[in-house]
Amino acid sequence: MSAIAASSISCKAPQVAVIGAGKVGSTLAQRITERNLANVVLLDIVDGLPQGLALDLYEAQGLERHDKTVLGTNSYDDTVGSDIIVITAGLPRKPGMSRDDLLYTNAKIVVHAAKEAIARNPHAILIVVTNPLDVMTYLAWQATGLPKSRVMGMGGVLDSSRLRTFIAMELGVTTGDIATLVLGGHGDLMVPITRYCTVSGVPITELMDASAIERIVERTKNGGAEIVKLLKTGSAFYAPASSVCYMVESIILNQSRLLPAAVYLDGQYGLNDIFLGVPCQLGCDGVSRVVEVELSAAELAKLQGSAAAVKEGIEKAIAKTQL
Ligand code: APR
Repeated sequence: MSAIAASSISCKAPQVAVIGAGKVGSTLAQRITERNLANVVLLDIVDGLPQGLALDLYEAQGLERHDKTVLGTNSYDDTVGSDIIVITAGLPRKPGMSRDDLLYTNAKIVVHAAKEAIARNPHAILIVVTNPLDVMTYLAWQATGLPKSRVMGMGGVLDSSRLRTFIAMELGVTTGDIATLVLGGHGDLMVPITRYCTVSGVPITELMDASAIERIVERTKNGGAEIVKLLKTGSAFYAPASSVCYMVESIILNQSRLLPAAVYLDGQYGLNDIFLGVPCQLGCDGVSRVVEVELSAAELAKLQGSAAAVKEGIEKAIAKTQL
């Protein structure tokens, strides 16, 4: 019998390891598998939690009509073979805990998780979700020594999506027609660039007065806090999980989407040696291009103010935890 040449189609489905099986991590596992994007390994420090969630998700596979698997584990050895690592592990802020205490605690968790996961998956792309996002992304990059194009933080997609929703609510148009751009650090110091926000190509400045835009911008900046206040315990997770999934999809399907993410800057916007939210293109090799859009002096000053706060967080975390 003559030898038959092997097909060039890969038989291996992509694999995403989600570190942290809390609200964001478990919802992300659901989104990824139900969109049939990748097999998921869900890892948490709590014994039984990722195993239980993974089994529950797996048991819906036939009903949701996808063919992706979900494995729950407490061992990083089970993450071997992952193309993307998403870190959502961390502690929420508890009563009496300062922002700085949270910073130090989450810094240790994220650095440990990044090192363990990348040691077993040196070719993976790393997406950091744990807050304070921009600082955690920098620390994870530094701890792993990965090329800067393979490390990024999820913040801008979520902030832009919140802004898009608020514009849709105000104007009564569908979100599908709206494009928004939010730069800077994820959190209070984000910089929504309303000049670049459009509805089917029409700038929102043509559709809303300045006070309505200002109100929407403020609501976007407080988007996370608004949900925390309503929930009373815990923070947002549906839109954050959708935002990470959007990035995962752009990488796995090599869509090269232009989206805002916390990426490494070396000179763009006059900023160096920092991860901060700016527009970039995301494909199968990670960040293929960092886009520098023209900003007014006032917008640039806000972005640099946001960067200064992120730098301060990085320095504090490194000094205190000796990472
Ligand atoms: N290793 C692995 N998992 C850990 C570790 C660790 N060292 N430490 C904590 N975890 C797990 C917790 O056991 C928990 O299941 O991380 C999970 C965090 O889940 P939640 O508390 O539900 O938090 P979540 O809402 O998912 O948010 C996660 O994303 O948006 C950000 O601000 C948010 O930093 C937070 C992160």
